[in-house]
Amino acid sequence: MATQIIDGKQIAKDVRKKLKPRIAALLDKNIVPGLAVVLVGEDPASQTYVRSKGKACERLKLHSVTIRKDASISQEELIAIVEGLNADDKIHGILVQSPVPSHIDELAVTLTISPEKDVDGFHPYNVGMMLLGRGALLPCTPNGILKLLEESNIDPTGKEVVIVGRSNIVGKPIAALLMQKAKIGNATVTVAHSRSKDLAEITKRADILIAAIGLPQFIKADMLKDDVVIIDVGVNRIDDDSTEKGYKLVGDVDFDGCFEKASHITPVPGGVGPMTISMLMENTVTAAEKINGLS
Ligand code: GUN
Repeated sequence: MATQIIDGKQIAKDVRKKLKPRIAALLDKNIVPGLAVVLVGEDPASQTYVRSKGKACERLKLHSVTIRKDASISQEELIAIVEGLNADDKIHGILVQSPVPSHIDELAVTLTISPEKDVDGFHPYNVGMMLLGRGALLPCTPNGILKLLEESNIDPTGKEVVIVGRSNIVGKPIAALLMQKAKIGNATVTVAHSRSKDLAEITKRADILIAAIGLPQFIKADMLKDDVVIIDVGVNRIDDDSTEKGYKLVGDVDFDGCFEKASHITPVPGGVGPMTISMLMENTVTAAEKINGLS
């Protein structure tokens, strides 16, 4: 069977297109969904993400505010910024780009974000609601993965899903979502990570493998069974003198080596990444609707 490349760019575009009538309905009521992104420090990858988020808002004509702060900002100052955004009626979504400098307690900042404006889905209220299967604002990358599976007609019901990586942003929430009694759910989920023994024995069980461990090209063909669905969440910069920037982006999966084994595979870039941004736009629109009592 020929391997299908899952086109995250196209699916992300379709998600944005479906948002347009919802945005128009809000505009009819003089409501422009607004997203505020707070970026602390100069991390190059974070700067790229934040620019993409701003551009996505611009394209959908959403109100977008980016607040850039020096890495020396105190926790109190950062919390005061979030409190200001909580009180701002033009802002429906607040995102503090992760990671923040080590002197700042990220959880303390997340706890300050009003749960109804928490478009990352990181606030414990939203994490709890997600676990209960009642989440309204789901974390963007996991939600994007659900969408990629749905749009590729991949039903996880009864399948063995192996997630490699246990982060709060991806591994833990995608595990919770895929085991849920839901349209895209009902899977038998295993979460493996850097401390798992015999990792290859675990990954070989996967009908659907989700790689989110943050190590370039870590998943090799001999760790997989035939016809596996591969979702690669990794975004790693590796040196490449042949490119203008001197680096290239690769995933957590050895794409070329694993391609033949897979029934479906997401590329990096152009797989999960664009979905994260589109789901953020969707959450911003959902938050604007809910805050205004429209859904
Ligand atoms: N850093 C990497 N991914 C994310 C994300 O989805 N949200 C935030 N806030 N920071 C990130």
